[in-house]
Amino acid sequence: MEKNLKKLPEEILSLIYLSRDIAEELGFNAYLIGGFVRDLILGVKNLDLDIAVEGDGIKFADNLAQRLNVKLTRHKRFGTATLTVKPQLKLDIATTRKEFYPEPACLPVVNIGMLKDDLARRDFTINTLAISISGKKFGELINLFDGENDINNKNIRILHNLSFIDDPTRILRAIRFEQRYNFKIEPNTLKCLKEAVKLKILNIVQPQRLRDELILLLKEENSLRAIKRIRKLVGFNFINPALSISAKTYDLFNSISRQIRWFKSKFVLHRKLDVWLIYFMALIDFLKVNQVKSLCRRFVFCKGEEKRILSYMKLRSKIMLKLSRNKIKPSSIFHLLEPLSYEVILLIKAKSKNKNIKKHIEDFFHIYHRTDISVSGHDLKDLGFTPGPGYQKIFNKLLNAKLNGEIKTKKQELDLVKRLKNK
Ligand code: CTP
Repeated sequence: MEKNLKKLPEEILSLIYLSRDIAEELGFNAYLIGGFVRDLILGVKNLDLDIAVEGDGIKFADNLAQRLNVKLTRHKRFGTATLTVKPQLKLDIATTRKEFYPEPACLPVVNIGMLKDDLARRDFTINTLAISISGKKFGELINLFDGENDINNKNIRILHNLSFIDDPTRILRAIRFEQRYNFKIEPNTLKCLKEAVKLKILNIVQPQRLRDELILLLKEENSLRAIKRIRKLVGFNFINPALSISAKTYDLFNSISRQIRWFKSKFVLHRKLDVWLIYFMALIDFLKVNQVKSLCRRFVFCKGEEKRILSYMKLRSKIMLKLSRNKIKPSSIFHLLEPLSYEVILLIKAKSKNKNIKKHIEDFFHIYHRTDISVSGHDLKDLGFTPGPGYQKIFNKLLNAKLNGEIKTKKQELDLVKRLKNK
């Protein structure tokens, strides 16, 4: 594997060499492990390095962080630590662990173990490969569960028949990896997956864990294929029994993906989209507001996420109706859309077939969004206005006039203020 390692970008390679040196100094065995090794073999770019240490992972991570002079986040309870080398380059370090599941679908009990134990607790064989990065064995591939063969044959395979019962979130993970790499869930794994689904095992998993897996799935490049596969193999009861996914949802997903491409190509400097959230709202599009409210509570979304989801559910019809008119003032478009998030606006655009709605939303992003006025509170004070709530009303009038093209320059704004004063 040394050959493959040497093909990595210089920055990652030097990180691996530094890890080797620290492992040697501390007398630990260290391994690259899991998704990073899988992707290295597949030739897929992956900037999330996972290192497993036979020894003390936290001590190893402390040393590495000091040498690199970067931030380290410790998770003492799990013997793991995360090192953020750059926003895009992360290193997760863990002490090799042994796990056992006291009950189905519960979090496992974790103890310190050897590399073999750490690999044996994993979801699929493709994630059980490790590369030694310490001592004389530097660069050696450790392939205890025939993961290399499964990668080459494009198979998703569990390590033992109770894997989905131990951790039902693996049902969603199997589908995610299968669709991401265009692999196949091999027959016995598929049989176990179907049996676990029949047992309604997803109903007893902590909902937040399902939420996290669903989010990961909706972040995938081709989440629609995974959604189709979930529909076929699992169903959507785990989100809500009333959820029905049809060809309309598929069309909406395709339309969303076009809108996301449009937005990203036109507005490179705007904040990054939460793409998964747009797809999630599309999935639950046909639920009633009350069902969505209780789903938000069950999935424990963070405030900002819940707010965006509920604003879409509550306001979409009103907004679509108003924007469907041909003649609507720019200031009205602005006040309808400005309070909404990019995710909600793009979903409305993706959902509507009406040309006016699409045009008004495009105008909003191209022209009206972020419109600001030049007159300040100081200007109003200089013109003899007493500071107070009245200021906001004047600012609004100026903003509307500016949006509607009635005024452009600061002088015109000041003239309008003076006219308002005389009135
Ligand atoms: N894992 C598992 N069961 C889970 C979640 C994770 O066995 N329910 C194991 C997998 O073997 C995985 C490792 O923990 O390789 C790290 O998990 P994660 O970072 O989620 O997976 P990656 O393989 O790195 O996947 P991705 O490329 O999506 O980040």
